[in-house]
Amino acid sequence: MRNFILGIVVTILVLLIGGLGFALLGFMPTRANSVCSEMERHVATSALDNSVERHAPRLNNPVPPTDENLIEGLKIYTMNCALCHGGIDRQPSGFEKSFYPPAPSLILHPPDDPEWHVFYLIRNGVRYTGMPAWDRTLSEPDMWKLTAFLTRVDKLPPAVQDYWKKSSGVNPPTGEQEGHGEHK
Ligand code: HEC
Repeated sequence: MRNFILGIVVTILVLLIGGLGFALLGFMPTRANSVCSEMERHVATSALDNSVERHAPRLNNPVPPTDENLIEGLKIYTMNCALCHGGIDRQPSGFEKSFYPPAPSLILHPPDDPEWHVFYLIRNGVRYTGMPAWDRTLSEPDMWKLTAFLTRVDKLPPAVQDYWKKSSGVNPPTGEQEGHGEHK
């Protein structure tokens, strides 16, 4: 029994030292301009989803989804997020594939997660990716307005759709035509 436990401890140590050596001797790839493998994407996406499930408080959006608040959300999105996630002209961002992992196109494929989940990602960012934490630059109500807008991109009320069309010259997406929820 004692040898068995010793075996496990030695194996863990060898793996740890091996992993550290791999990183510190410069074997870790650090380029952002390469393509994520399917397996890495799958593992990373599941790890992120499960971490948000574990850590995010189940908050209700304190900002009501009025036309005014959704239009505010659209404006905040355009100013801060469109560069990486694509604008309301419904063109993919020229920048999205320059990240590892790529920035998902939030207008073409709006998130179908609950609001508390999206709010948590916006507020805290995503470690080891290009997604910043916004809690130092945006107020809590502004992050909630963004959340309200993003979770309704393809089902906005008529007045907000009119505003969208007027400011971009392009019709907003509606659920029927879009691949709703396919993130990346
Ligand atoms: C500098 C580029 C950049 C900016 C600016 C940026 N993001 Fe991101 N964002 C990313 C990247 C890269 C990811 C992918 C992270 C991942 O795959 O885990 C991401 C992921 C996300 C996700 C998670 C999507 C999913 O697949 O679940 C949300 C939601 C999000 N961003 C919202 C926003 C909002 C809202 C703003 C503006 C306040 C914003 N982002 C600004 C780069 C950016």
